[in-house]
Amino acid sequence: MDAFVIEGGRRLDGTLRVNGSKNAALPQLAAALLTDQPLTLRDVPELADIRNMMKLLGELGCSCVRDDDGIHVRSEDESQVYARYDVVRTMRAGICVLGPILARRGRARVSMPGGCAIGDRPVDIHLRGLEALGATITLENGDIVAEAPGGRLRGATIFLGGPFGPTVLGTANVMSAATLAAGTTVIESAACEPEIADLAKLLCSMGAKISGAGTPRITIIGVDELSGAEHQIIPDRIEAGTFLCAAAITNSDLKVTNCPIDALLAAVDRLARIGVHVDVEDQSDPYRATCRVYAERSLRPVEISTQPHPGFPTDLQAQFMALLTLADGNSVITERIFPERFLHVPELSRMGAKLLRQGATVVVSGVRELVGAPVMASDLRASAGLVLAAMAAKGTTVINRVYHLDRGYERLEERLRGVGASIERLDTSEAQEITAPMITVKPIGEPAHA
Ligand code: EPZ
Repeated sequence: MDAFVIEGGRRLDGTLRVNGSKNAALPQLAAALLTDQPLTLRDVPELADIRNMMKLLGELGCSCVRDDDGIHVRSEDESQVYARYDVVRTMRAGICVLGPILARRGRARVSMPGGCAIGDRPVDIHLRGLEALGATITLENGDIVAEAPGGRLRGATIFLGGPFGPTVLGTANVMSAATLAAGTTVIESAACEPEIADLAKLLCSMGAKISGAGTPRITIIGVDELSGAEHQIIPDRIEAGTFLCAAAITNSDLKVTNCPIDALLAAVDRLARIGVHVDVEDQSDPYRATCRVYAERSLRPVEISTQPHPGFPTDLQAQFMALLTLADGNSVITERIFPERFLHVPELSRMGAKLLRQGATVVVSGVRELVGAPVMASDLRASAGLVLAAMAAKGTTVINRVYHLDRGYERLEERLRGVGASIERLDTSEAQEITAPMITVKPIGEPAHA
């Protein structure tokens, strides 16, 4: 198990390029199950979750090859309909093969995703949407078993809203399934995330008839067959937001390229209020912009509430909390999508942050400095918040279990080192050897500061 050892207090300098989006790539790879023709996706990051999805597609009868040109997927054996627990439990997004298998192969058996570090994540809305398309769904031994009557789903009008708003992967699942349904489907209260619009773009290039993706109402006119396609996925707005926070928390002047600034307006608005400038130097393509990011001398406190897109993304909550631990005053952060998503709070507190949690709200009282400490990564974005805090902290921080980060950030330590961060990936035991001398315990009775 690897750990990161980070020496804080360094300014960053140079350029960071944003990679393709993990959360766009996952449902798009699953879309390959909707046809027996070849699909090529470009700019897909090299991540644990992507490898798991490729493994899952392999088990579902697809050939899946990555080369310099991208990932090439072709569904060859369409008799496979079972997505096993052992693969789905490693990656919740495995659920998004359910709609495509059911729509194309007429039946599916997909393990129900288990628990998640960021909180309760049911898939009831996914199932509700597929049932509205005519599927019969039962739960057997932890597996979702779905059948399309007569082997084909049928179009319907579906309200897909839930207690915390729309569902992203639920919208992806139902929209993908509806492309091959008989008749027209209208999804109301659909997720408006850029990843949904990009999935619809891919599906349309495969011959699907979709309008309104990226808005709360999506209309899909079902077709009998889909073809293959080639598609370059959008850049990762959450990685981009993480880089903008990295520049701000280290008081650096940094360039961020391939930046989907148009997908980050809520985050950029908060940064402006905090005193962080994001100057767009080239936005010939607002999804692949070049930005200069730099902060004013002191950071101002703000209020943040996470919301569905285009509101402030929950996947940037931990990174902004890390930033606001150094603001000049009290900030208030409310998590409205995953109310339990605060595993980073006790770890940031270990670094000297002043955080008071009350239910789904955390009051962040700014401190003059954070101090390095051994901390534990718990989930993808919480870990990103710890990396940011460590880069700003005084002294050495060791972040254990960085496999959480590898799920969503490709070679993060190398890329940050490339702009001047002091960050190393070590085996956990090596990292512990480094931190051991940091802590000296005086024998009982000896004065503390002798
Ligand atoms: C996607 O997860 C992202 N994952 C998450 O990013 C992201 O946090 C989330 O959307 C919200 O933006 C991928 O795209 C792979 P939801 P998803 O269904 O689709 C509730 C990351 O860090 N809900 O939109 O699984 C749910 O519990 C990951 O990259 C139901 O109640 O999230 C949550 O409170 C973490 N029933 C809310 O809706 C359902 O059937 C939104 O969840 C489905 C969801």
